[in-house]
Amino acid sequence: MRQFRNVGAMALGVLTLLGAGGTAHAATVPIDTQVDRLLARMTLAEKVGQMTQLSEGGVVTGPGGTKGLEANIKAGNVGSVLNAVGAERIRKLQEIAVKQSRLKIPMLFGLDVIHGYKTIFPIPLAAACSWDMAAIERSCRVAATEAASDGCNWTFAPMVDIARDPRWGRIAEGAGEDVYLGQQVAQAQVRGFQGPDLKAPTSVVACVKHFAAYGAAQGGRDYNTVDLSRRTMLETYLPPYRAAFAAGARTAMSSFNEYDGVPATGNKWLLDDVLKQKWGFRGFVVSDWESVSEMIPHGAVADRKEAALLAANAGLQMEMQSGCYLQNLAGLVKAGKVSQAQVDDAVRRILRVKYEIGLFADPYRACDLARRGRTIMNKANLDAARDVSRRSIVLLKNDKDVLPLAAGKTVALVGPLADDRENMLGTWHCQADGKQCKSLADGLKERNIKVVTAKGCDIRGTDKSGFDAAVKAAKQADVVVAVLGEAHDMSGEASSRTNLNLPGVQRDLLMALKAAGKPIVLVAFNGRPLTLDWEQENLNAIVEAWHLGTQAGPAVADVLYGDYNPAGKLVATFPRTVGQIPLFYDHMNTGRPYNKDDHYTSQYMDAPNEPLYPFGYGLSYTKFQYSPLKLSTTALKPGGKLTVEVTIKNVGARDGEEVAQLYIRDLVGSVNRPVKQLKGFCKISIKKGEARHIKFQLTPRDLAFYRADLSYGAEAGQFKVWVGPSSATGSEGAFRLTSNVAVPD
Ligand code: GLC
Repeated sequence: MRQFRNVGAMALGVLTLLGAGGTAHAATVPIDTQVDRLLARMTLAEKVGQMTQLSEGGVVTGPGGTKGLEANIKAGNVGSVLNAVGAERIRKLQEIAVKQSRLKIPMLFGLDVIHGYKTIFPIPLAAACSWDMAAIERSCRVAATEAASDGCNWTFAPMVDIARDPRWGRIAEGAGEDVYLGQQVAQAQVRGFQGPDLKAPTSVVACVKHFAAYGAAQGGRDYNTVDLSRRTMLETYLPPYRAAFAAGARTAMSSFNEYDGVPATGNKWLLDDVLKQKWGFRGFVVSDWESVSEMIPHGAVADRKEAALLAANAGLQMEMQSGCYLQNLAGLVKAGKVSQAQVDDAVRRILRVKYEIGLFADPYRACDLARRGRTIMNKANLDAARDVSRRSIVLLKNDKDVLPLAAGKTVALVGPLADDRENMLGTWHCQADGKQCKSLADGLKERNIKVVTAKGCDIRGTDKSGFDAAVKAAKQADVVVAVLGEAHDMSGEASSRTNLNLPGVQRDLLMALKAAGKPIVLVAFNGRPLTLDWEQENLNAIVEAWHLGTQAGPAVADVLYGDYNPAGKLVATFPRTVGQIPLFYDHMNTGRPYNKDDHYTSQYMDAPNEPLYPFGYGLSYTKFQYSPLKLSTTALKPGGKLTVEVTIKNVGARDGEEVAQLYIRDLVGSVNRPVKQLKGFCKISIKKGEARHIKFQLTPRDLAFYRADLSYGAEAGQFKVWVGPSSATGSEGAFRLTSNVAVPD
């Protein structure tokens, strides 16, 4: 469990000051001193301007738009612009701020660079399935270098919302259901976006979103109410945000949802008590799109002035788009309802980030056309995209090793996504052009595979007129590769679904294809867990390929033909039916845990309790065998360490990679504890016939939780520990913690 390191200790900044005449002279002056000097020169209106972000029409990511953007910039009313696209346009807007406004304060340019800018990588949910932090960091690094070469200096990412309901379309944007893995992924993403040096021309400022617990929307319906216990918020939902800040993220975005009855955008417990007082966050928080004014429909405030009042006093530093601050904040300060100190703190935080990234020294750093030409979609970036894509693929079924396919076999390539490029992009695909994606058909063509094609049906709709041609194609082939799934706009924001089957008549197509009597391999391109129960029962192989981005086709072909042995593991549980949701592995045991021989136990009459595929699950083309565990002690003392050792042998016919996962269970606690919790993992390559010996280390800190009194610490007692290939199985051991241990929170 990584602890939050106070990023408050800002390094001395070597600053190049732009003198009045634009001449530059270097000065080693602490950033905070520069901030205070500039702040002292600002009028109240200019301060409110820094707290205002307005959208340029470049891309539309919410309702409404902005009128008079350039006039507002010139008047000093805009501290940041979002959705402006392209170095040329951004340079023009920046020039207005830097040359025409009174104080010439450069602006931040924000954009949703979520999983790529032009070279699109797997959606975050897919990349997380690689369990490969270096790969995840690399995908964000490439995204940052491309975006930062085309004007952008701030990305609205990473989204680190824990999500346990696949009906929620935005599960696509995060790292799934687990708090431990979510922390590791969040840190890798921040490192990737911000890079080692925020002043580097290849870096963008990260924005940790959506603070907080947006993924807990009731019913999986986007923007819906979040109602969580304080303990669940502290234990499950907050840690990934905290981890992202510990990795140095400089900004956060407040979420649309309420928490504990108060919208996050005006929630002082979240924005001030937790984020600033407890965690020591020294960056700034921007609202989500119009989430300040949306506190009116929430019923938290009566009008825009009250919205500005609630948000400002809660500790929201910048308002995205709705203009409540611009219209009301100066008046609220003059009326004494918002303190000058509160406004000054907000502006200080914003200016500090601008100084930290060197924006005053070089406002046009990101507007470098030559660098853009060298960077955008260059070969290294495309190769990286293919590599991360392969690592993100999860093999869910492979009966009788029907995969990998032999190159000489004829393939019936069917399904609406078989030769589709646009939908490979997935949600939030930024500035990508779908035509530059490679489909699976492209991937097979590159390999000169003999293919008979038939679309069969659309992604949506009821038209089955293409079935016969698909069945005919199947009869002419050795194997059917059915490429099905969701369109890119069926997950992401405002894309919740209540039916998680393959959309339209895609399952019907599979049923028709079965009649052809050939092996069927399903390749699924989708943005969320789907209820593939019929498919699991009736198909020979299932490859979960998510939405992989620009290099989707070649990456999937690499897996289908065995050039890459899949090693992905699910980071979100796949339910059998929507009726089982919410369904996640680290659930409580209840007082009547399921017992097949006892009617009065926790169960359904019409479905099993178990998921279709559990968290951490994923197959390989080879087989791994886990030895019994070896524990360094069965009595862990305060201040002590427990080493858990296991040997994993590759007993199959291929080299492969395995993600060994370590789980614990605290058998008794002052509050009930989950039946399993991920506390470590290790991704290793093991050659066929070889074995690898791995060691995990546990300390009392890893066993800590928010106890009955909400204090943080570990409690004496018995624990179980497992190491295995998923949350559902593994070699088991036991130990005890000899006494209670308070752990700094
Ligand atoms: C959207 C999303 C948020 C995004 C923002 C700016 O509504 O909720 O994730 O960063 O607006 O586009």
